[in-house]
Amino acid sequence: MIGIFDSGLGGLTVVKEILKKYPKEDLVYLGDTARVPYGTRSPETIIKFSVECAQFLQKQGVDKIIIACNTASAYAYEEVKKAVKVPVWEIISYGARGAKEGKKIGVIGTRATINSGMYEKKIKEFNPEAEVISVATPLLVPLIEEGEIEGEIIQAVVKKSITGLEDVDTMVLGCTHYPIIGKFIYKKLVNPGEELVREWISEGGSGIDKYYFTDLPGRYINVAEMFLGQKLTGKVERVII
Ligand code: DGL
Repeated sequence: MIGIFDSGLGGLTVVKEILKKYPKEDLVYLGDTARVPYGTRSPETIIKFSVECAQFLQKQGVDKIIIACNTASAYAYEEVKKAVKVPVWEIISYGARGAKEGKKIGVIGTRATINSGMYEKKIKEFNPEAEVISVATPLLVPLIEEGEIEGEIIQAVVKKSITGLEDVDTMVLGCTHYPIIGKFIYKKLVNPGEELVREWISEGGSGIDKYYFTDLPGRYINVAEMFLGQKLTGKVERVII
């Protein structure tokens, strides 16, 4: 059974990719919706929250943990690995690997992810000659969470957010929410969740999915289903971690 956590609902875009390829995979998802966003917080807070999420998943009996959140991956991977006994995967390496053919690569993400310089560092490991331009795009997460995913407003904000990245050949969607608006970015896109699934070796399963959230106001279910691209089936529960 695989444990996946994110700062909130956005990590369901990663679950979507996993279930697209392996619908029978047994998954436990934790969205820290009571404390989202992580992308505006300090490294200390991101680490503390991420470790708590991972420990919760470990208690559920998972045998692997995926940090779906780019911000948490950027700051908390080492601490999370130390805090749990099961293998831990972070998402940034997969996004970086997906950009290995690019020459001029754009990366968009939260302020914290971009400030960490982690995408740039990892992209250079796979692709040392690449030019990497990273831009924080903080307006996109709140708009997407409001369901503002079609029409003029989101298109205008996407356009403004990626100013300076017009001539990149590859764009890494370095935030869980961005696959939703990728279609407005007319570039070769890298979706880290999709890249992760490329490397995924399924352990088989019986399709047991559990979704835990640290807060669950009514409207979240609709937003969650927008990220997941299907109905939330299986157990859905609010938890205190
Ligand atoms: N899940 C976060 C990420 O991928 C985006 C939302 C947040 O700021 O917490 O970076």
